[in-house]
Amino acid sequence: GSVATKTQRHPSFSSLNADDISYFKEILGEKNVIQDEERLSTANTDWMRKYKGSSKLLLQPRRADEVSQILKYCDSRCLAVVPQGGNTGLVGGSVPVFDEVIINTGSMNNIISFDKVNGILVCEAGCILENLASFLDNQGFIMPLDLGAKGSCQIGGNVSTNAGGLRFVRYGSLHGNVLGLEAVLANGTVLDMLGTLRKDNTGYDLKHLFIGSEGSLGIVTKVSILTPPKLSSVNIAFLACKDYLSCQNLLMEAKRKLGEVLSAFEFLDKESVDMVLNHLEGVRNPLPPSMHNFYVLIETTGSDESYDKEKLEAFLLRSMEGGLISDGVLAQDINQASAFWRIREGVAEALMKAGAVYKYDLSLPVEKMYNLVEEIRTRLGQSAEVVGYGHLGDGNLHLNISTPQYDDNILAQIEPFVYEWTSKHRGSISAEHGLGLMKANKIHYSKSAETVQVMASIKKLLDPNGILNPYKVLPHSLLSYN
Ligand code: FAD
Ligand code: MLT
Ligand code: ZN
Repeated sequence: GSVATKTQRHPSFSSLNADDISYFKEILGEKNVIQDEERLSTANTDWMRKYKGSSKLLLQPRRADEVSQILKYCDSRCLAVVPQGGNTGLVGGSVPVFDEVIINTGSMNNIISFDKVNGILVCEAGCILENLASFLDNQGFIMPLDLGAKGSCQIGGNVSTNAGGLRFVRYGSLHGNVLGLEAVLANGTVLDMLGTLRKDNTGYDLKHLFIGSEGSLGIVTKVSILTPPKLSSVNIAFLACKDYLSCQNLLMEAKRKLGEVLSAFEFLDKESVDMVLNHLEGVRNPLPPSMHNFYVLIETTGSDESYDKEKLEAFLLRSMEGGLISDGVLAQDINQASAFWRIREGVAEALMKAGAVYKYDLSLPVEKMYNLVEEIRTRLGQSAEVVGYGHLGDGNLHLNISTPQYDDNILAQIEPFVYEWTSKHRGSISAEHGLGLMKANKIHYSKSAETVQVMASIKKLLDPNGILNPYKVLPHSLLSYN
């Protein structure tokens, strides 16, 4: 991608030699030291196929002490590394920029314990989100987060990006749900912060530094997470709204009237739904074709089937009568429910099939949010497809611009406009995907210079040689290397 080519490989980093490889083989065993071209090519390329590194080595540690040995060695040799989980990240953070050693956490995938009384799951960082969800389902619990990438993303990656997702509106951020974690620092120190307590005010709560730091401060090896009980009644409605203001008003009503049972409030504009219908097989619009401009997906989760359903139906009826909804359908069974979710969760995949995509993940005041989509549409005219969707209930817009191929002229019309617009409205240039490589140099649009300076000092303290995920998160000018 064009971002990578503007970055310079830092001269203080060493290049791999035969002794390094022998050392890694000694501690990890032959088969966990991967130099195979095909596997490297996959690990060097991000999910969007937009960022591509040229690493010659992929390591697969099985335990924290192996991670510790690897990092200690890399630090002493000044070998840069990139932590990698499921490699579903969307900001170029999970792949090398140059020849960084890839440390993949996928082999650390054991569930350590589950406390059924308190709903506390302790597991290794490489556990795939969907596997944790199925494990919990058997125990009568759910994960507090869910996202379209659940089949590949790992809990360590989720924690490291502070992933939001589809249940955030109900269960909140991982800063609240992660009770503890274990992380390995650049010098090999294993930090045991794997508490399982809801309340613990003994000094600085360092685990929060690792939540959302995108592999720049340490490698997360274990996680302890609070899981909500699985409730018996889940309902989902797929609704159409005539304009954006109706979506916004519907959200205000839903928060008030559905209150404690509301578990998701997602929106898609017509262009997003068309994108899914045109590019994904076997997906159809559950609503009859019409001139709907917006769609909203509302999910409720509660413990009383008849009460919950009645509540949702009454809400929908009132919203229909009040003109907030122009059409809608309630899922009648599990298959229909997953078909509705498929439309929302399929947007990212559909965009990938459509060609090149410029992805923006913004927090913005709900009232203003859609103005940006319209302004970008006007700016770009016929040269691109502009779609807006996202977690409306959290004030999180996904603005995506689709073109047949990447084009610097198009990019110049989008950036810095999108960032300036977001900054002007006091929004965030990353609501949930993180900064990665894509936005490392853009952090100032959302954070003050003083704040960024403190971040750089923390980075320097924990990773003095700058070996952990270099070129990511912080502005390149502030990253120091010994
Ligand atoms: P990776 O992509 O492998 O890594 C992400 C970042 O974390 C990198 O910087 C990497 O270096 C670092 N990292 C990974 N593991 C560790 C570790 N153990 N220790 C330290 N650093 C580590 N995100 C959302 O927030 N909400 C969504 O709704 C959402 N939906 C998505 C839907 C699709 C279809 C896709 C492809 C992505 C979506 N994402 C979403 C983005 C992505 O899935 C999340 O960011 C996810 O949390 C990344 O997990 P991962 O295991 O794939 O991490
Ligand atoms: C989503 O909400 O669908 C994800 O964050 C992925 C994306 O933004 O495309
Ligand atoms: Zn999202």
